[in-house]
Amino acid sequence: MVVAHLGQSLDGRIATLSGASRWVTGDADIAHNHRMRALADAVVIGSATLRSDDPQLTVRSCAGRNPVRVILDTNRVLDDAYRVFRDEAAATLLVCAADRTVPGERLGAAEIVGLPRDGAALAPAAIVAELTRRGLRRIFVEGGGVTVSRFLAAGCLDRLQITISPLIIGSGRPSITLPAIDDLRQGIRPLVRRFDLGADVMFECILRE
Ligand SMILES: NC(=O)c1ccc[n+]([C@@H]2O[C@H](COP(=O)([O-])OP(=O)(O)OC[C@H]3O[C@@H](n4cnc5c(N)ncnc54)[C@H](OP(=O)(O)O)[C@@H]3O)[C@@H](O)[C@H]2O)c1
Repeated sequence: MVVAHLGQSLDGRIATLSGASRWVTGDADIAHNHRMRALADAVVIGSATLRSDDPQLTVRSCAGRNPVRVILDTNRVLDDAYRVFRDEAAATLLVCAADRTVPGERLGAAEIVGLPRDGAALAPAAIVAELTRRGLRRIFVEGGGVTVSRFLAAGCLDRLQITISPLIIGSGRPSITLPAIDDLRQGIRPLVRRFDLGADVMFECILRE
């Protein structure tokens, strides 16, 4: 089960251009995010989110155990300065291209996992397969927009949760970005469930049963 979540503004931004995203959505969505972590075996983020936010990716707003933290960094450009590589609060995997890894190598406390390249990145299906092989079957993709969009484009999401905040940023990092279409009939029109989260509204898109 792979579930992604993004919190976005009315105009479809998840952060400012400089990367500030605390906080686009309100307390109820942040609490929801922690509950999703608590339900997950693994939480996945892209390298840009690590660089901007230096998140801990732990469960703090509710009861529950911390998921395994998974950071995607194709070309292994991250250093060990970030909290997930140092705090030992949960097991951490740095996933990168196999040609950038040496067997047994670690970055701080994190295990480095090499996967075959798929063009400029790593195939989301290969990431899911590797996590599943490790017994991590409930996967929460927490952002950012590039990472979630790649999982969506690859058909690797069961659910996509988008929480919309009544905020207009006017510029900034985009939420979902997919290859251009010419006809609205080519857009994805999933079954949705809708939830009020304080002043925000969350749409949960059911992409696979
Ligand atoms: N509002 C929210 O819900 C929310 C949530 C999370 C983050 N954010 C904000 O979003 C911003 C970052 O989002 P973003 O969209 O710019 O970037 P991002 O998704 O955090 O990171 C993108 C990078 O992650 C790596 N990556 C992603 N998918 C990969 C794949 N399949 N294979 C290999 N590498 C992969 C790539 O690194 P390489 O280029 O090195 O290959 C890619 O450039 C930050 O400002 C953060 O604060 C907001």
